[in-house]
Amino acid sequence: MQHREGSAQPMVYLETYGCQMNIADSELISAILRRAGYGAAARPEEADVILLNTCAIREHAEERVLGRLSDLARLKHQRPALRLGLLGCMAQHNRAQLVQKAPYLDLVAGPDSYRRLPELLSQTRFDPIVDVRLDRNETYAGLGSDHGPGPRAYVTVMRGCDRFCAFCVVPYVRGRERSVAPDAVVGECAELAARGVKEVVLLGQTVNAYRYGEVGFGRLLRMVAALDGIERIRFTSPHPCDMTDSVIEAMATEPKVQPYLHLPVQSGSDRMLAAMERGYSVGQYLELVERLRRAIPQLALSTDIIVGFHGEQEDDFAATMGLMRQVGFDAAFTFKYSVREHSRAYKLGDTVSEEDKARRLSAVIELQESLSMARNRAEIGQVRKVLVEGPARRGDGMLSGKTPQFKTVVFPAQARIGETVAVRIVSATSHSLSGVAA
Ligand code: 5AD
Ligand code: SF4
Repeated sequence: MQHREGSAQPMVYLETYGCQMNIADSELISAILRRAGYGAAARPEEADVILLNTCAIREHAEERVLGRLSDLARLKHQRPALRLGLLGCMAQHNRAQLVQKAPYLDLVAGPDSYRRLPELLSQTRFDPIVDVRLDRNETYAGLGSDHGPGPRAYVTVMRGCDRFCAFCVVPYVRGRERSVAPDAVVGECAELAARGVKEVVLLGQTVNAYRYGEVGFGRLLRMVAALDGIERIRFTSPHPCDMTDSVIEAMATEPKVQPYLHLPVQSGSDRMLAAMERGYSVGQYLELVERLRRAIPQLALSTDIIVGFHGEQEDDFAATMGLMRQVGFDAAFTFKYSVREHSRAYKLGDTVSEEDKARRLSAVIELQESLSMARNRAEIGQVRKVLVEGPARRGDGMLSGKTPQFKTVVFPAQARIGETVAVRIVSATSHSLSGVAA
């Protein structure tokens, strides 16, 4: 293994792009490399190995990484011993092609290769190493992760996706669904609780499709809820089709499971939902929202919306706006459709012009701002239990934390990180709330 002159230990700098799953994967990668003897470099300039954990969901994500890579290549030019690796979804998506686009890469490794990273990095080779084997069984269960600080931790309970929505590349880059054994999930959560973590967020591409033998996702929620020390449980992202009675019941009856759900709808047009192969209609989605709200009256809902999917007409788009108004989401993540190679819709191409996509995106963002504002204003006067995360970013002695509905609240109080404080909400913007200790 090569490392910088004078340093006792090889240093690795890891940068993460994309979703919460990638952040959790980076915590796993850090732990694997730490155990193999690597130290963590705070800056690329101090590293012997630079790794980018990447996202392939939209073209824009890939472009950002390619830009960053060419910046980092300059460091490698100055220090040829420096190793540059690209990990994760984009590695899987582009594979050998990447080595042509970025010839200075030493390593290209997909999401199922992390266990082998120390070994791959120790191979000194002239040619880049490409390891993008997907593994139907790899869950990394029991490997342990370097969870970040703070009262909230993310725990991966399942990996992969079997849904194959037409626009999406995830099933190709992350492979088939597989779940972590419940005792491994419970064990990890217990360890986190022992270290002072109060809130766990269970993660998976379609997290509520979790199944291990007899244990489905509703049961898993209850098993984690039985742990002392864990006060709050959340999960992301569920698929509407896997929102079973058992999961809804666990949310409704288990007080630790928080009343917040990110429930991606993607479109408000039945024609689009069918073309996207989402597996539900607008009516079925609305019925699910109705069932959820009946069972969990305090529920906050967020969603994902794609505008400009193949074939989307103005009336399809208007239907999306209509659905957003009808549901009154607390928040929405909105995206312009990006054609992805390997996805089912790839061959259909792009029919909506960039101009129309941009206009539709602005319109959904603007609508969501007003919906979020209305939902947040309705919080004024309520007393919410807030889990303190730390000082507010704006300073001035204020604290910041989340309500059960996952809304950020800024408030003045003397409280420790990880404590839960009752806060009366006094004002709201479309993005956050302010309050006073109740
Ligand atoms: N183009 C635009 N948005 C996409 N998403 C997934 N694939 C694409 C794509 N090809 C969005 C979906 C998904 C979220 C994580 O990213 O809304 O729910
Ligand atoms: Fe992609 Fe659909 Fe799977 Fe979500 S459920 S990861 S959108 S294929």
